[in-house]
Amino acid sequence: DTHDPTSLRTPIVAVLGHVDHGKTSLLDKIRGSAVIEGEAGAITQHIGATAVPLDVISTIAGELVDPDDFDLPGLLFIDTPGHHSFTTLRSRGGALADIAILVVDVNDGFQPQTIEALDILKRSETPFIVAANKIDTVPGWNPNEDTPINDTYDAQSDRAASRLDESLYEIIGELSDEGFSADLYWRVQNFQRNVGVVPVSAMTGEGVPDLLAVMMGLSQRYMKAEMEIDVAGPGVGTVLEVKEEKGFGTTIDTVLYDGTIRSDDTVVVGGTNEPIVTDVRALLQPRPLAEIRTESRFEKVEAVKAASGIKIAAPELEHAMAGAPVRVVRDRDIEDVIEEVQAEL
Ligand code: GTP
Ligand code: MG
Repeated sequence: DTHDPTSLRTPIVAVLGHVDHGKTSLLDKIRGSAVIEGEAGAITQHIGATAVPLDVISTIAGELVDPDDFDLPGLLFIDTPGHHSFTTLRSRGGALADIAILVVDVNDGFQPQTIEALDILKRSETPFIVAANKIDTVPGWNPNEDTPINDTYDAQSDRAASRLDESLYEIIGELSDEGFSADLYWRVQNFQRNVGVVPVSAMTGEGVPDLLAVMMGLSQRYMKAEMEIDVAGPGVGTVLEVKEEKGFGTTIDTVLYDGTIRSDDTVVVGGTNEPIVTDVRALLQPRPLAEIRTESRFEKVEAVKAASGIKIAAPELEHAMAGAPVRVVRDRDIEDVIEEVQAEL
């Protein structure tokens, strides 16, 4: 029931980091599907969105996440490009985030866009954790598919374990150079004051249970008050992409970050010339775990609540703009909503 004011808002988790450090692969591991294979040159060039329900998170995380401990519906992951030319998209992804995962290749360490991403998180005061990715590439590593980090650590030779430790401490040092007090996540007591570093492999799934457990803990502990905002109010979102969709004409892939949108709503969308006022024709929802960028089978729904990735079909969206705001009018004065949209452009 989308009118239930007690239902919690889904936290938005932005995944940021340098090119090729494994952001999309990490999400592919969580989704259980391979979006990366469809990417030209395997470089992400758009912002993506994927809803991961709580039951999937708890299945992947095993004993590390007991679904009874959480009343959040799940997490909405936002994939961002790491290539240097996509600064705007990284900022946009960062602006949407309630919390974030900064992905750092353990071998490569901090790189220019790692620092750029950190600056975005610093400016917006977004709580984040660091996923130290590709631990399977540590020389002598003995992979243990999909296990918590503690279990796979115990199965390593002293030599491999200490090689990983060295790389992890280098990352902790680099975070410190950037003004963040950081430590391995199991040593962090207060995730608001200290940045937790989670060793993971997007390839083998090692540490992914830990990563999800820490994200859920962070959301529940520090975001709950914010998640309790009334998601029944008029929806607010950001356009990710303007796209043709067979049978629907021009549509906008949107991240709804507040409120609710219904299939009979009037919306105001930022356009290249002026705000577009239009009536929703259809709301097309990607299946759970599907990346909105690559989804081909959308479900037509009557309403969606934040946070969600949703494709909106409506007339006159030809001049809608990626990055522009989307606001539901509902019972408000349309001129006020137009002004709000204009102010955000
Ligand atoms: P951009 O979106 O272009 O910024 O890159 P990305 O951060 O999304 O990286 P992507 O997931 O595309 O991965 C880049 C390359 O690293 C691919 O060839 C992946 O297969 C590889 N890769 C990612 N994670 C891991 C990992 O944990 N272990 C190993 N061995 N390879 C990985
Ligand atoms: Mg990518």
